[in-house]
Amino acid sequence: MRKDGQYKIAVIGGDGTGPEVVREGLKVMEAVSKKFGFKYSLTIFDYGGERYLKTKKIISDKEVKALKKFDAIYLGAIGHPDVKPGILETGLLLKLRFGLDQYINLRPVKLYNADFCPLKDKKPQDIDFVVIRENSEGLYKSMGKFLNKGKKSEVATQISYNTRKGVERCIRYAFEYCRKRNKRKKLTLCGKTNVLTYAWDLWERTFNEVKKEYPDIKTDYAHVDATTMWFVKNPEWFDCIVTDNMFGDIITDLGAMIQGGMGIAAGGNINPGGVSMFEPIGGSAPKYTGKDVINPLAAICAAGMMLENIGEQKAADAIENAVIKIAKGSLKSLAAGKMGYTTQEIGDLVVKNL
Ligand code: IPM
Ligand code: MN
Repeated sequence: MRKDGQYKIAVIGGDGTGPEVVREGLKVMEAVSKKFGFKYSLTIFDYGGERYLKTKKIISDKEVKALKKFDAIYLGAIGHPDVKPGILETGLLLKLRFGLDQYINLRPVKLYNADFCPLKDKKPQDIDFVVIRENSEGLYKSMGKFLNKGKKSEVATQISYNTRKGVERCIRYAFEYCRKRNKRKKLTLCGKTNVLTYAWDLWERTFNEVKKEYPDIKTDYAHVDATTMWFVKNPEWFDCIVTDNMFGDIITDLGAMIQGGMGIAAGGNINPGGVSMFEPIGGSAPKYTGKDVINPLAAICAAGMMLENIGEQKAADAIENAVIKIAKGSLKSLAAGKMGYTTQEIGDLVVKNL
């Protein structure tokens, strides 16, 4: 929490529906700041596909560095239909995550209303866990090469790069988070020790060493393939899950579906000692752009996570409670165009229920 109570927030609406959902998140932030008496300033950045198409610029090292002076970054979505896939994702989103050393991707999976769960007989108390995804290494490191590109004999390699330091800081964060969360106090390592015998040997050894410092936390291990099975069959087994970058990417899309869909799934790219960035995890949804039909709840929840991260816990709780209320009482569905309300009306509903 800032002493002068004035937070500096950087806002990157980004592509597609990003700016629309961010607008609703900011609407909710304004209301909640009045209620709980904190102040902030917003600085809007136009990084994204439109700017890239006009200027050929994505984001420079200097621009990334300039973001370090903010207390947090609020991001809408990255990915533009007229830009080849990969350019903005690596040049902007991953560049920010890496450049700001946001080495944790924190993704809560929480069901607010059983009616929105595609699984049979699962209740809100059954689906309430957090995935702690390593966010700076692994297969995302862009390491690899082509041999004999374009020939019949072509070989492409893509390396999963795991450092002891990177793995340990992630695992340690996960234990601390699990302790602080103080629910079932169980941390599951999700990996693939039976096949990826270098990377996951390092992860498993590190996990087993670090866990000795946390005797109050129960630990468990599950292979990533089995993890997807348990997400569907027994999601109630999970409390906190720690995993690498690629596995974390995959299992959190499944996690989003069992909590009701991309419309409600939020995440934080966390640098515990620096500036963190909060985003709905659903992407830019180009086909819904500008139609006022996209669900802004994921972005609103991301704003809540951001407020929690900068120290405004009460405001964060108020947002979550308002979201729970309308997810239970008002919305017909969490899916775009089927909610029974427009994007802007949902923002208003959250504000009304704060
Ligand atoms: C996510 C996204 C990104 C990722 C893409 C857009 C690069 O899928 O945040 O989960 O793979 O991390
Ligand atoms: Mn993803």
